[in-house]
Amino acid sequence: MYNRKNQRDLTRAEKRRLVDALLRLKRSGRYDEFVVMHQEFYVSDAEDRLRPAHMTPSFFPWHRRYLLEFERALQAVDPGVSIPYWDWTVDNTPSSSLWADDLLGGNGRPGDRQVMTGPFAYGQGNWRTSGGTTDDRFLARDLGRSRNPVALPTKKEVDRALSDPVYDVQPWNSVSVEGFRNRIEGWGIRDSRPVANHNRVHQWVGGPMAGAGSPDDPVFWLHHAFMDLLWTRWQKAHPGGGYLPGRKPSSPDSDRDRVFGIDDRMPPWNVAPSQLLDHTRFYRYV
Ligand code: CU
Ligand code: CU
Repeated sequence: MYNRKNQRDLTRAEKRRLVDALLRLKRSGRYDEFVVMHQEFYVSDAEDRLRPAHMTPSFFPWHRRYLLEFERALQAVDPGVSIPYWDWTVDNTPSSSLWADDLLGGNGRPGDRQVMTGPFAYGQGNWRTSGGTTDDRFLARDLGRSRNPVALPTKKEVDRALSDPVYDVQPWNSVSVEGFRNRIEGWGIRDSRPVANHNRVHQWVGGPMAGAGSPDDPVFWLHHAFMDLLWTRWQKAHPGGGYLPGRKPSSPDSDRDRVFGIDDRMPPWNVAPSQLLDHTRFYRYV
């Protein structure tokens, strides 16, 4: 049992140890394995494939397990490290301490959007991205998406999602218009709603965060720790609610065989959502 802290509460020593552990995982090649795994499971609901991670009810449990695996890798390097969370409803500007030189470094420069400051700047020699969508190997960011500005979601928007008493609704994909899961995951493209909460944050950061290789930017882990924390808040607020679907949907629609009911085992770990509903045996949020 260990704590996951708000990144704004990390001491200087804690930040240094986290950064060191990230850089060591990178050097060993382990870090990039996690990026590749995320790319493999970046399956859209337009595809005829299993969909455990995105555009799907198991968005929360899949990422919980994914973060746990990553955290175990970090802790194999330094047992005192855990993944902090970034509450972007509060730390919501490019001048937040999150983006300082002693943690994640700052915004990308104009033009190629290359991050020039902090431990993950290409020029430091310790961080080559895996190059998912472009040939660039430098970490890029475009905080606020300068060409087509987008704002971080507000507490009000998050609270609206938290107040939905239903976990998820049919058709269990990116067009589900109600339910906590897609209100937070935030797809809106196919029915022209604006992209919300979780997805909007990926867009706000830009660079690899805007695509399948999002863990190429270490802020990914802090963003998803906050998503995981929001899931715990939703569970607490709706004790009578719970993960849905309870079993694979029986209606013969196209998503039936691609989504995961509460006891269906998700790849690549062969673990069911029901085994991941309680985070308190692993960590707690402080
Ligand atoms: Cu993801
Ligand atoms: Cu994400």
